[in-house]
Amino acid sequence: MVWVFLADYRRWVRKFAQAGCEAPKPRMSDLILATNDTVIAAHAACVAAESLGVGSCYIGDIIEQWETHQKAFHLPQFVAPVSMLVFGYPTQLQKDRKQTSRFPKEMIVFENAYHDLTDEELTAYYDDEKAAAFCKRKYTSDFALEMERSTKEIVKNWMGE
Ligand SMILES: Cc1cc2nc3c(=O)[nH]c(=O)nc-3n(C[C@H](O)[C@H](O)[C@H](O)COP(=O)(O)O)c2cc1C
Repeated sequence: MVWVFLADYRRWVRKFAQAGCEAPKPRMSDLILATNDTVIAAHAACVAAESLGVGSCYIGDIIEQWETHQKAFHLPQFVAPVSMLVFGYPTQLQKDRKQTSRFPKEMIVFENAYHDLTDEELTAYYDDEKAAAFCKRKYTSDFALEMERSTKEIVKNWMGE
């Protein structure tokens, strides 16, 4: 089973017009807030599924190939695909797999103020070779370039452009 989670401002655009309000077109702040709502819904589904013994995996590809998804799901103006979750029953092999390591708490939890990592901390927490490979993949791979192109189109559709 695959679920796609949509940020949906369309119903507000229509309701504001119906109620005679003079509302501007959806803005970036509306998109960021709606994206929060969408990810909250996705993660609630992820946790609920887990409680039933159903595994899931987020799939970032939903912000690629905008035109294909727009057509397949009949996505109108002011509606943006944000998250995709695939669900399934994990195999024993998956259940037994070694969990990936997590960053130490000091690296991700700050109290009262942001802590800019020192060069030493950056060196300790991130491997240079892995970072270089990640950088290359992030900015030159086909899927990453497509994600950037597609996202721009999704934002245009959200903004009513
Ligand atoms: C926003 C987001 C997008 C992801 N997209 C993909 C994807 O397209 N394909 C995939 O196999 N896994 C995808 N994942 C899953 C990650 O690769 C990873 O397996 C998952 O976050 C679990 O991480 P862990 O092994 O550190 O617990 C995505 C995860 C997130 C949070």
